[in-house]
Amino acid sequence: MSENDKQGLKRRGFLQSSAAIAVTAAIGTLGTLAPFSLAQAADKIKVGLMLPYTGTYAGLGNAITNGFKLAVEERGGKLGGREIEYFVVDDESNPAKAPENSNKLVQRDKVDVVIGTVHSGVAMGMAKVIRESGTLWINPNAGADQVTGPLCAPNIFRTSFSNWQTTYALGKVLKAEGRKTAVFITWKYAAGEQMMAGFKEGFEKEGGKLVKELYVPFPQVEFQALLTEIASIKPDAVVAFFAGGGAAKFLKDYQAAGLKGKIPLYGSGFLTDGVLEAVGDAGEGVETTLHYADGLNTKKDNAFRLAYAKTYKLQPDVYAVQGYDAGQLLAAGLDAVKGDVSKKAAMIKAMENAKIDSPRGPFTLSKAHNPVQDMYLRKVVGKESKVQGVAWKALADPARGCKQ
Ligand code: PHB
Repeated sequence: MSENDKQGLKRRGFLQSSAAIAVTAAIGTLGTLAPFSLAQAADKIKVGLMLPYTGTYAGLGNAITNGFKLAVEERGGKLGGREIEYFVVDDESNPAKAPENSNKLVQRDKVDVVIGTVHSGVAMGMAKVIRESGTLWINPNAGADQVTGPLCAPNIFRTSFSNWQTTYALGKVLKAEGRKTAVFITWKYAAGEQMMAGFKEGFEKEGGKLVKELYVPFPQVEFQALLTEIASIKPDAVVAFFAGGGAAKFLKDYQAAGLKGKIPLYGSGFLTDGVLEAVGDAGEGVETTLHYADGLNTKKDNAFRLAYAKTYKLQPDVYAVQGYDAGQLLAAGLDAVKGDVSKKAAMIKAMENAKIDSPRGPFTLSKAHNPVQDMYLRKVVGKESKVQGVAWKALADPARGCKQ
């Protein structure tokens, strides 16, 4: 029996013990019809948004929020027949505060679902709280491999990517373009390290050699010394992971250091998504792999881009898509149980089996609850990361260590 059914029975028991026979008869009839709708239809689904709204990833948090809300608004502001109430926490991309911030939503606000976050280190802190509480979690960005690896769980879903997924296909791309040696440069934390590892694995399989790994502390943007080092190493290619404000600064510094046009620059697509307006022509020609691109020109993507631009007066990026798909995945779960979140097993099953009609292209979830998706090759042309083709069809994260 669900929590709602139990509540319904308790309520009826209470009324029957009161003396008002006529009222009892009336309520009793309603109760047998639909105890759930009496108990909960008026209540809203509590959605917790734990995202960065300040700092270098603020733009990413906002785009995810916009995308999620667009998916809800497209469904008349309701999912599974129930309205949505938002609870918002700015996690500041600060891993040290992640357990406390997660508990604000889980313990204090008692949300039905947590949507978050961007930063892999923060996601690792969330995972502990979420696994203990059993709260439903949809991760709309943070790529920490562990989340759909050793930490995978029935209540943990991701609508974005694993860090490994975003760079693994680059090895094939570099090989095809005749690059035999590469330097990887990134922030020193889980996302950068795991994207570096994914690249290394894919590149070495193709016979390439990663000659140097270069790191700057997150979220610092002092690249000068490392760019000088790259100039002296003279690799065939540079591969980078930076995102948000840090990516914009890196592209500009790469150009200013005189490396642009000399050593070709590659990366996971975060290097150029959502930042091209801010960098002049510093991004021109940069090639990246990602599960979204400009110029897909599909019916779904065109409709999404139009709706997003109309609603927010902004062009969407990969983060907006991931937030939108988090809304779509939640809708699939809630529709299946008609908004009755106490039917958790049925809801999870519906989410596991959902085929998400994403602007990136349709995708399904792996057993570990991570998207199995095409990785596009993109190239910066003007202000767009233009699709060049599919670098890897239906790429699934290996989900190493996931036992479900
Ligand atoms: C991450 O920390 O997992 C992360 C952050 C920003 C990105 C991609 C991944 O654009």
